[in-house]
Amino acid sequence: MELCVIGAGYVGLVTAACFAQMGNRVVCLEHDRSRLARLRQGQCPIYEPGLAALVQEGLHSGLLSFTEHWDHALARVDVAFIAVGTPSHEDGSADLQHVLAVADSLGRHLLRPCLVVNKSTVPVGTAERVARQVNSGLRARGASFTVSVASNPEFLKEGSAVEDFMRPQRIIIGTDSDAATQCLQRLYAPFVRNRERVLVMSPRAAEFSKYAANAFLATKISFVNELAGLCAELDVDIEQVRRGIGSDRRIGSDFIYAGCGYGGSCFPKDVRALIHTAEQHGYQPSILRAVQARNAQQKTLLFQALQEHFGGSMRGCNVALWGLAFKPGTDDLREAPSLVLLDAMLAAGARVRACDPAALEGAAAAYPQALASGQLQLGDDPYACVEGADALVLVTEWKQFRQPDFRRIRGLMRKPVLFDGRNIYDPSELSTLGYLYHGIGRPQAGHCKVTAA
Ligand SMILES: NC(=O)c1ccc[n+]([C@@H]2O[C@H](COP(=O)([O-])OP(=O)(O)OC[C@H]3O[C@@H](n4cnc5c(N)ncnc54)[C@H](O)[C@@H]3O)[C@@H](O)[C@H]2O)c1
Repeated sequence: MELCVIGAGYVGLVTAACFAQMGNRVVCLEHDRSRLARLRQGQCPIYEPGLAALVQEGLHSGLLSFTEHWDHALARVDVAFIAVGTPSHEDGSADLQHVLAVADSLGRHLLRPCLVVNKSTVPVGTAERVARQVNSGLRARGASFTVSVASNPEFLKEGSAVEDFMRPQRIIIGTDSDAATQCLQRLYAPFVRNRERVLVMSPRAAEFSKYAANAFLATKISFVNELAGLCAELDVDIEQVRRGIGSDRRIGSDFIYAGCGYGGSCFPKDVRALIHTAEQHGYQPSILRAVQARNAQQKTLLFQALQEHFGGSMRGCNVALWGLAFKPGTDDLREAPSLVLLDAMLAAGARVRACDPAALEGAAAAYPQALASGQLQLGDDPYACVEGADALVLVTEWKQFRQPDFRRIRGLMRKPVLFDGRNIYDPSELSTLGYLYHGIGRPQAGHCKVTAA
């Protein structure tokens, strides 16, 4: 098929590259000129395992191309995917300006009937709104056709986006049109040999399903984080409780890890947007509000514990920070817990050396002053990072940090103190090695605790 994917971000670029890999001709339209230039040279502007190779293959085969010109992107299009960002407005609602700008451009440039498919995460009713906008643009130009708009929310995870797209657990197709259903079923057939993974529903249900999924996962995380705080009070290790409940298939073992909070480009903004939608309808989203509040508190936990450890003042302390990206496998720093910690430590006068395998470029752009003054140093060597440190804090559990040589690290640090924001280390092993260990909800060793509301 002839496809156009609008937006070359985490979702759009993966979508474009994967569809091209299956033999479709894909034109990816991107309006950020520097991103476009890199893509045309075969450089991948984001870190996502396996993506760079797919982009290069697509360019090489001629099946994948990049443009900023609508006429070129839409010249032969059968299906146009919208994959642009939907960040938060200040009031928490989803900012649809990019989606609506795309709808406007489609109305002005489409020359032939096609199926428009929205992959961006958008509030219920947006597919209808986009259809109205595209079709009113077409009418204004005297076009002899209209288009229908389907919702096809994306469930890929950053860090395993290509794998998730290639082997999806489910594909949701939100449309009332048989032709649209058949078209998308055909397009996705190579990815889902098991047809039962394709779920067809109304566009509104599809749009809501995406928010429901993210809000549910965020709820699992905040729920366990709440229990972790209580565990610490009760002299119980949350890690044992996690295993105890995760073995129950009704609960499941995913997303029940206690830690220093969730971040990223989706959970925080999607929970905010769902709360806003509920409030708009006079409905009280009490669970969602609690999820959000718990997460905000959780993100302050490590700093509070560090401050307590340093007797209330961090001025002049040297802290090594492992992991900046909001989770392993990505360079994405959006709403990362590391940033909350970093901001607080820098404001408190600490000197920080941070290490991350993929997110250094973004971090350098976010902290130019702290870098220039030397208060913040960035690097990709975990051992260089801990030299002379008074404490080491693990925020993102990259594989590189999972089994380090703690004997060597003890020799490099000024004091062997470890704050484990993801509970990935063994407290007893570390204390045998002479470390002072702090985990989340792990009382035997020392734990991070919220002291003020
Ligand atoms: N990132 C994820 O893991 C993920 C997963 C599932 C769903 N989503 C949803 O998918 C959507 C996109 O997310 P993302 O993380 O890929 O965003 P992103 O910010 O990484 O990428 C969006 C891209 O669209 C481009 N763009 C914006 N307006 C444009 C326009 N008018 N014309 C051409 N290009 C334009 C931007 O320059 C950018 O490159 C969001 O709604 C998000 O909630 C994201």
